[in-house]
Amino acid sequence: MERMINILGFAGSLRKGSYNKALLSATLELVPKGAAMEIFDLEGILPFNQDMENQPPQKVREFKARIRAADAVLIATPEYNYSIPGVLKNAIDWASRPYGDNAFEGKPAAVMGASVGMLGTARAQYDLRRSFVFLNMYLLNQPEVMVPFAQDKIDKDGKVTDLKTREKIKELLQSLVTWTKRLKGE
Ligand SMILES: Cc1cc2nc3c(=O)[nH]c(=O)nc-3n(C[C@H](O)[C@H](O)[C@H](O)COP(=O)(O)O)c2cc1C
Repeated sequence: MERMINILGFAGSLRKGSYNKALLSATLELVPKGAAMEIFDLEGILPFNQDMENQPPQKVREFKARIRAADAVLIATPEYNYSIPGVLKNAIDWASRPYGDNAFEGKPAAVMGASVGMLGTARAQYDLRRSFVFLNMYLLNQPEVMVPFAQDKIDKDGKVTDLKTREKIKELLQSLVTWTKRLKGE
């Protein structure tokens, strides 16, 4: 029997009605057979302080442990001022430290995002990809899932109603599973 591929997802928005949280919630329904999705909420992670990197807060310890336990990570990010939101960068900074204890080391990863604008988080996603180079993560190139005008594709209850968007998310998940297995030689 094939081993389950466990994917940890987190969103770069703390907002209750977040469109990016909605994209992640959709993955729970769309994840392919043989893989499992879990979602980690970044709410409560304190601002990074390097004085504390050797004794990080409990929430950060938990975050790092969950990243390490996962076979792959999937990030859904908004775009704030043409880049990634501070909460996401802050969480990534914590998980990458102290030097030599980067929880993301060698981790397969994928990114997606939703915005109310017309570029669907493209600029934020490319900024995130740049950080992944330094973190030595193995980022899936394709498909790129950039959801513009999210307000027309996600309803008030946070359900992704747009069929093309759901198809893209499904394709991304399948590609991430294939990519993860290839990297692990499975
Ligand atoms: C501080 C801030 C900056 C923003 N900057 C951008 C931006 O550069 N590009 C963009 O497309 N949308 C921008 N937006 C709008 C976001 O796309 C929109 O708020 C989106 O719903 C955020 O994602 P969420 O629904 O997951 O919280 C910005 C929103 C905020 C709060």
